[in-house]
Amino acid sequence: MSDTLTITDNRTGKQYEIPIVDGTIRAIDLRQIKVDPEEFGMMSYDPAYLNTASCRSRITFIDGDRGILRYRGYPIEQLAEQSTFLETAWLLVNGELPTAAELDAWTAEIDRHALNGRSALDSHVQALMGGFPKGSHPMGMFLAAVGALSTFFPEAKQVLDAETRRTQMARLIALAPGVAAYACRRSTGRPYVAPDAGLGYTGTFLSMLYKEDGKAYAPHPALEHALDVLFVLHADHEQNCSTSAMRSIGSSQADPFASLAGAAAALYGPLHGGANEAVLRMLREIGSVDRIPAFIARVKSGEGRLMGFGHRVYKSYDPRAKVIKKTAYEVFEVTGRNPLLDVALELEKIALEDDYFVKRRLYPNVDFYSGLIYEAMGFDAGMFPVLFAIGRTAGWVAQWQEMLEDKEQKITRPRQLYMGENTRDYVAADARG
Ligand code: CMC
Repeated sequence: MSDTLTITDNRTGKQYEIPIVDGTIRAIDLRQIKVDPEEFGMMSYDPAYLNTASCRSRITFIDGDRGILRYRGYPIEQLAEQSTFLETAWLLVNGELPTAAELDAWTAEIDRHALNGRSALDSHVQALMGGFPKGSHPMGMFLAAVGALSTFFPEAKQVLDAETRRTQMARLIALAPGVAAYACRRSTGRPYVAPDAGLGYTGTFLSMLYKEDGKAYAPHPALEHALDVLFVLHADHEQNCSTSAMRSIGSSQADPFASLAGAAAALYGPLHGGANEAVLRMLREIGSVDRIPAFIARVKSGEGRLMGFGHRVYKSYDPRAKVIKKTAYEVFEVTGRNPLLDVALELEKIALEDDYFVKRRLYPNVDFYSGLIYEAMGFDAGMFPVLFAIGRTAGWVAQWQEMLEDKEQKITRPRQLYMGENTRDYVAADARG
């Protein structure tokens, strides 16, 4: 059996033999198919990239039919239970789990970047954030401040230098929680306070967020652990919308701060990382279990979507949602049960039995339960996508690095099918009918 695809062009009767590699054909191989030798040649048309592999990647594997997610080969369930966010971030960036010595050095490096970078955060980012009115959405501030960091670290422009890239990746992972905490404090009108030392990655973030001036702060260990698990679950998800934005912007050799600001902007949307905020709004709007059937009927008639349900790749239960549901119960043991949980559980039960959702293979995704946990932990809804961004920063930088090291990649530049007017002559305004 030959690993080729034979295409017959019925317009010309010509046959073309196209190689199949790794179960795919190269879109560029279609270019030889033409009626007239002078014409451009055939392209594939794939709006929203439903069936286009944009890269080769060794980072994250998803099997959407079987509900499998692995980072560098490790099942997400094992990493959520046994790893930590910083260890997982190393795994994503470097390809292997760190040795104990490597993990110690990595933790120290992240601490050092967080500490050194804090002078930039303290002065410049604080001044920048101060320009946003109280009540500004934290995600808008987060992406603006991350983009602005490129002006403090101009050496980050050396994106083709492997060592510089490594430094910026660590720096971004180290500084994302600080920027996020600033954004949240500013949005609720609270002043910046310096964090307590020695609290670890997730503990320091909570300290920067919740500490009150002059008072010591110690995060609740169970809540700190739950948030760390959520960071692990959100750390990467192969070529999703924001990661594609990161790769696409990075392909122009923009510095990683600018690329990450663009990725965060993509994450902001309600169909992507903004969905957990939308889920909570939806649960509040439904309010009680008896109002669910009417809500489901509205969704089925095309009036809005069941937020936190459905996924481009998962056509079964999102494995992250399973872990999050379990984590939710652990968090509620500390914080007390979120009353909206009953609405969420009943909504899930009804949706999983309803023909509309079953036929379209719509299951709960990562965002369905995460908002409930975040709310129980005291986060404002506007902070939810920013929490997603902290975890996803590890994946964004790992994917950015992989893209720059991939000799097959070039500046991203899709083609189009032009459907507009043909050439026509300009007419002066007063002569237009
Ligand atoms: N509620 C009701 N109907 C839905 C939903 C939903 N949540 N999701 C998809 N559908 C329907 C859709 O109307 C369409 O029906 P029909 O074939 O009759 O026109 C069918 O299912 C296929 O939908 P699609 O829009 O073609 O699917 P997609 O792959 O383009 O969209 C999605 C994927 C995640 C954007 C979508 O399922 C959605 O909008 N979900 C709600 C938002 C959400 O929870 N997003 C978080 C995604 S996971 C985390 C992340 O990526 O950040």
